[in-house]
Amino acid sequence: MSYVARADRPADKAARYAEVAEEIASVLDGEPNRIARMATLSSMLADAFPAFFWTGFYLVDEAKQNELVVGPYQGTLGCLRIPFGRGVCGAAAAQQKTQVVPDVHAFPGHIACDSRSASEIVAPVFDAEGKLIAVFDVDATEKNAFDQVDAEWLERILQRAFAA
Ligand code: SME
Repeated sequence: MSYVARADRPADKAARYAEVAEEIASVLDGEPNRIARMATLSSMLADAFPAFFWTGFYLVDEAKQNELVVGPYQGTLGCLRIPFGRGVCGAAAAQQKTQVVPDVHAFPGHIACDSRSASEIVAPVFDAEGKLIAVFDVDATEKNAFDQVDAEWLERILQRAFAA
């Protein structure tokens, strides 16, 4: 089943998220490797929602304080490193809070890895101890692609995958 994410169809979108959340949990069951889990989650979400143009993780770089380094993703070339506080990913990391950006060109300091990105959502990713380990970034080529339904479901999926 394919579904084109649109903020004006929240009910359909929530139903699709509910379905894919179960599929992800089932595929990840018993796999302890974090990179394998991130790669699988990115692939399954990108495949479930055709509007997801860039879908993936930026990891907190343990070697460098306050810097993100690109992790597993689906999509066109992403920037390799993002300092905390820069762009949407950096804001999500610094504030440890999901950012929903209807128009990336109106976001101060937005990092344009691909000029086709028009809207974006970035959620922080925590481990079981509540430590920030990454952010999960989804970009769309349409403006206003993401809303509170995406924020709630992505947070739930990430919590189950990395903090449970
Ligand atoms: N647009 C992001 C950068 C990462 S990419 O789009 C893959 C940002 O401003 O955080």
